[in-house]
Order: sequence, then structure tokens, then C-alpha cells
Amino acid sequence: MTSESKMKTMLVAARANADAFADRFRRELPDHDIVTAMPEDGRPVAYAVVGRPLPGLLAALPGLELVLSLNAGVEHLIASGEVPAGVPIVRMVDPGLVDGMVEWVAAEVLAWHRNLFAYREKQRRGLWEPASEKLARERIVTVLGAGALGGPVAAMLATLGFTVRAWSRTPRSLPGIATFAGAGELAGAVAGADVLVSLLPATADTTDLIDRALLDRLAPGAFVVNGGRGAAIVDADLIAALDDGRLSGAALDVFRTEPLPAGDPYWQRDDVLVSPHVAAPTHVSTAVAVMADSVRAWERGATPAHVVDLDRGY
Ligand code: NDP
Ligand code: OXD
Repeated sequence: MTSESKMKTMLVAARANADAFADRFRRELPDHDIVTAMPEDGRPVAYAVVGRPLPGLLAALPGLELVLSLNAGVEHLIASGEVPAGVPIVRMVDPGLVDGMVEWVAAEVLAWHRNLFAYREKQRRGLWEPASEKLARERIVTVLGAGALGGPVAAMLATLGFTVRAWSRTPRSLPGIATFAGAGELAGAVAGADVLVSLLPATADTTDLIDRALLDRLAPGAFVVNGGRGAAIVDADLIAALDDGRLSGAALDVFRTEPLPAGDPYWQRDDVLVSPHVAAPTHVSTAVAVMADSVRAWERGATPAHVVDLDRGY
């Protein structure tokens, strides 16, 4: 089939693995014209697969119908103002992302719960010194965000035995988990929690949500895990709460500025585990199938799943 006889054109503008994504798309959507560079003949590009597109790219695409985001969080696409009005953004929700986030949060929470960070430090100093070991059910974990990632993360933590709470914008029901919704129930959701896990998107409402007042509601010596977005945390407040011993540590995968700048105080802290936004990477092996489903839904006149609500911001 030549490109003229194919259905619609899809531009795969992934910055990493573009060829691998494109090869997989060619298998999933064999009657589509899949390209990794802007076509020079000016033909319409119906679908753009993007992570963080270069400035100007989306606005320059003729005939754009759908933006397929390689990321779950799309605040950068919304803020760019480059997605033409009326063109839906479909955010990434796929089983690989869920598994990745479940694994990462499990790793961080269990490592803290079983005192592995503390034992590592004691090992450095040659100290054979048992800490008080608790059972998971004796720890309260609050998950902020009960969506595609927060829901399964809360369920996994409950399966491990933790006493789990989840907080969302609108009421959610999760088996075996105490759920809270809206600004009015935030204080109750975090009161006395031993671990706070944030899986919130970046929106106007979630920016600076985790401040000193919220941190002071956690149990003394609590642990903070952020796999959502860096802007949810007031960094100076987190650092102050670590410095004065109100918190015992934090695991941070996301930051206000990424890559985390050289010289940022987080780099030097033994009580903060920094990872480079890798909690839940997008895998070709799982993500292409869901994006292809979105294309197929669109072409039969249906609304694809997980279209971003621009007013809500996620
Ligand atoms: P979803 O949209 O499925 O879930 C978001 C959750 O946050 C929902 O439960 C939503 O409430 C809740 N929420 C949003 N705004 C508020 C608010 N103002 N008050 C209370 N709750 C709120 O997103 P995902 O679970 O798929 O992803 C969450 C975020 O994780 C992404 O936006 C992205 O930023 C981040 N992420 C990070 C990755 C990493 O590698 N570190 C990888 C993938 C995602 P409601 O249920 O009522 O809508
Ligand atoms: C994200 C992602 O939104 O990696 O952070 O999907």
C-alpha cells in the first residue's frame, strides 16, 4: 500500500524510541500512514503522538484531529496553548503505567516501613541496632489522587496490609479503603497518616497543596512519597519539616523543575530519595495498543477513553 492509498497519517513525535513506537503502530494500524517526521508534501496529519513536543510542532500540523499523549500528565500540553481549539487530547492510561507506579510506590513505602533506609545508614556506621518493627496494618497510608494510578496503588497497599485512605476531587468508592473527597475532607484524609503518597495531576487546585499545615497533620516522623507532580509540594515546607524532624524522609520522583537542577537541596539529603521521573515510564509494549484503540474509537465516531477535560486541567 502506498502512502496515498493509506487512511490517515499519524506523526509519531516521541523524543525517545520514536522508531520503536512507529514500528508497533504500523503493526497495530496497518492501513494508516505512520511517519516519524513532519511530511514534506503538506498532507494532513490527523494524529500526533507526543510527549513533550518541540515548540511550534502541534500548531504547525495541518488537519490535526487528535493528540495522543505519551504521558499521563498533560499540564505541559495544556499550558503550551498549542493544541488547536477543539482537538481532543487523549492522555496515557495503560496497564504498563499502572504496573510501573504500583511497583515504584510499593518499593518506596515498603523500604521505609521496614526501615531499610535507616538500616543502610546504620550499616555505614557498623551499627547492629534493631529499630522498632511494625506490621503494615499498624501504619496508615493516605494516597492523594484515586484515579487510574492512585486507585490501583491504594488497592496494592491495602493488599500488603496497610490501613489505606484515598482522597480524590469527586467521591470514589474503593473496596477496603476509606475514601475522602474534596477540599473539605482533605484534613481528615491525612490526619495521623504515617505515609503520604501523592499521585495528583498538576492543576491550579493541586499546586502547593502539600504545605506545612498539611505536613503537620501527618503522624510524627511520617514519610512522603511523590510520584504525581512536583508542583503539589511546597519544597521549602517539606525541607523544613525534614530538618526539624517532623518528617523522617521522602521519596521524590517528580520536581517543579526537571531535570532537578544541580545544587538543588534535595540532591544532598540522606533523608530524601531522588529518582529521575521514572516511577511509571511509558512502554511501547503496552502503550501503543491503547493509543491504537483511541484511533479506532475516533474513526468509528466514538469519543476515545481518557480525553482530557481542559476545564478541570487533567
Ligand atoms: P487520573 O486523572 O486518573 O487521576 C487523578 C486523581 O487525582 C483523581 O482521583 C482525581 O480526582 C484526583 N484529583 C485531581 N484534582 C484533584 C483535586 N483538586 N482534589 C482532589 N483530588 C484531585 O490520573 P492518573 O492517576 O493517571 O495520573 C496521576 C498523575 O500521575 C498524572 O497526572 C501525572 O502527573 C502523574 N504521573 C507520574 C508518572 C511518573 O512517572 N512519575 C507517570 C504517570 C503519571 P477524581 O477521581 O475526582 O477525578
Ligand atoms: C507522566 C508520565 O505523566 O510519565 O509523568 O506519563
